[in-house]
Amino acid sequence: MDSNRIQNLKNQAISSILEAKSDQELERLRIAYLGRKGELTQLLKKLSSLSPSERKEMGRLANDAKRAVKEALEEARKVKRIDFDKEWLDVTAPGKKPSLGHLHLITEAIEEITTIFERIGFTRVAYPEVEWDWYAFGGLNMPKNHPARDEWETLYIDNLKHNRFGRAVLTPHTSSGQLREMKQRKPPIRMLNIAKCYRRQSDVSHAPMFYQFETLVIDKKINIAHLKGTLDYFAQQYFGKNRKTRIRPFHFQFTEPSFEVDISCIVCGGRSCQVCKEGWLELGGAGMVHPTVLKNGGIDPEKYSGFASGFGVERVMMMKHGIDDIRLLFSNDLRFLKQF
Ligand code: FA5
Repeated sequence: MDSNRIQNLKNQAISSILEAKSDQELERLRIAYLGRKGELTQLLKKLSSLSPSERKEMGRLANDAKRAVKEALEEARKVKRIDFDKEWLDVTAPGKKPSLGHLHLITEAIEEITTIFERIGFTRVAYPEVEWDWYAFGGLNMPKNHPARDEWETLYIDNLKHNRFGRAVLTPHTSSGQLREMKQRKPPIRMLNIAKCYRRQSDVSHAPMFYQFETLVIDKKINIAHLKGTLDYFAQQYFGKNRKTRIRPFHFQFTEPSFEVDISCIVCGGRSCQVCKEGWLELGGAGMVHPTVLKNGGIDPEKYSGFASGFGVERVMMMKHGIDDIRLLFSNDLRFLKQF
């Protein structure tokens, strides 16, 4: 026995293990080297016939070779080998398509609404989500304790108050952006404010947090025909070219005259069905900006006039897709979201 023989045996075993093409071949190699009659086992048995000094040296080498071969076998078993004689790989087979996600329905609707208004010169803006009372109510012609405030079911922030602008609120509507816009820009103004709104409401058509999109146009000689034309343009772009809108007299403190805006029913096309009120579905509120609001925004109502509208993003999107429960939009249930 000499050290070269042991070293050669070890090298030979390891290179055979590395080249092995199947688990069966590995097992054959294990038996050939480490089995009861295996070459390394036989070698170790012969150690007893050596002189003590030789045995010490050869024993170390032989045990080292045994450990290395064992480790190589263990490593090789972890690796998946392909025996090309038995198995084959079709490189022309079609691959597996990774599943792709998409933006959330509300985000998609916000992007679509933005594009529609940008095409006719509106600029998208963003204003504070935590707002002072004056911007949300007072400056919009709703003085303190005015009963109209009740309709907004507002969420106030405790212990946060501005000396001039009052308590802090979570924006209950995007109309607060009207005053911010007027104070920031001079006419002509064509604002599109899309933002989160918060109200103490929750049922199939009301969410405590929802989105509104608000238009504000201020220039010389702006009148109701501009408002109606813009509403029709939006309805046709978003819902389809046969859609019509109608405006009904209503009351908001910050617009005069004020309207509620309806769209001809998506389901029956305006003939009247279970979903609509005699052929019409409600979209949101609108009106001509009240002179007091213009003054509060630093704009001279003698020179300028304007219109504003405020609709719910989820509501218009639900109408378009025929979704009947607003809470589905916030449940993050993939079974629902994947349908779109
Ligand atoms: C307003 O909020 C007015 N600021 C709209 C306005 C703007 C009028 C400019 C005049 C000029 P209203 O409370 O009706 O109005 O809300 C408008 C729309 O927001 C509703 O038609 C509805 O589409 C949506 N909306 C209101 N509350 C909720 C809610 N809790 N969940 C989902 N959508 C809502």
